[in-house]
Amino acid sequence: MIIAIVNNKGGVGKTTTAVHIAYALIQQGKSVLCVDMDGQANLLMHLFPLEMIYDMKDAKGVTKPSILHHESGIDVLPLSFHVVSQKQYASLIESVANNYDVVLLDCPPSLETRTLGALDAATAVLIPTEAESLSFNGLTSLIEMAQMRNLAVIGIVVTRFEKKKAAHNFYLPLIAKEFRSLFSGAVIPNSAIFPSASAMQRVGYDWNGKKANPALDEYTKLATKIGAMI
Ligand SMILES: Nc1ncnc2c1ncn2[C@@H]1O[C@H](COP(=O)(O)OP(=O)(O)OP(=O)(O)O)[C@@H](O)[C@H]1O
Ligand SMILES: [Mg+2]
Repeated sequence: MIIAIVNNKGGVGKTTTAVHIAYALIQQGKSVLCVDMDGQANLLMHLFPLEMIYDMKDAKGVTKPSILHHESGIDVLPLSFHVVSQKQYASLIESVANNYDVVLLDCPPSLETRTLGALDAATAVLIPTEAESLSFNGLTSLIEMAQMRNLAVIGIVVTRFEKKKAAHNFYLPLIAKEFRSLFSGAVIPNSAIFPSASAMQRVGYDWNGKKANPALDEYTKLATKIGAMI
């Protein structure tokens, strides 16, 4: 299964969702590849040292993108510095996808060539969003775009949820009501674990140890749902 993690709204948790779903799926025995589709290279920065990423940037166009292995078990295909056509992005993804149970495409925050290439290769979409007005307003067109392409909508994932915020409490039930089965049911609470773990090139699960964390538990539940679809 090739899942594009998309939302043209920035900072809604696409990269964080890719990394944590990947780790949770690996714990469930699946083989997983993350593809950094974003020129910002945030997924790479989440998992690997900056010097290594700058070296990769310097080598762009010279070397073919090759798969990196993170100590957590996550494999990453870095496409951040490769500027190619929509069709070529899709072929690069398809050329490695068969080696994995799940491929997660971390898309940039716009519907640019990179995202369109990802959508061409994808079989399904996951749409992280915050429970806020501007994010809510963009959901219908994202769902329509996925459905026009015959992509399975695994669902909308509500991220960075804060139960003390009035807007979040207003928009969460609205998302559930308006989008019904297209809402995955996953609500990831706001948690300091995510920025802390990424600052150390670690995955939240690994950073947290064995302590309970509701945000990580929600990602585990979502990964179990995805694992059952394979
Ligand atoms: N549930 C959460 N709780 C707290 N912080 C979070 C949560 N999810 C993500 N973050 C933080 O919010 C910031 C943006 O998250 P992330 O990079 O995953 O979003 P994005 O949608 O990939 O952004 P972009 O559109 O720029 O690619 C990061 O610093 C990340 O650590
Ligand atoms: Mg991102």
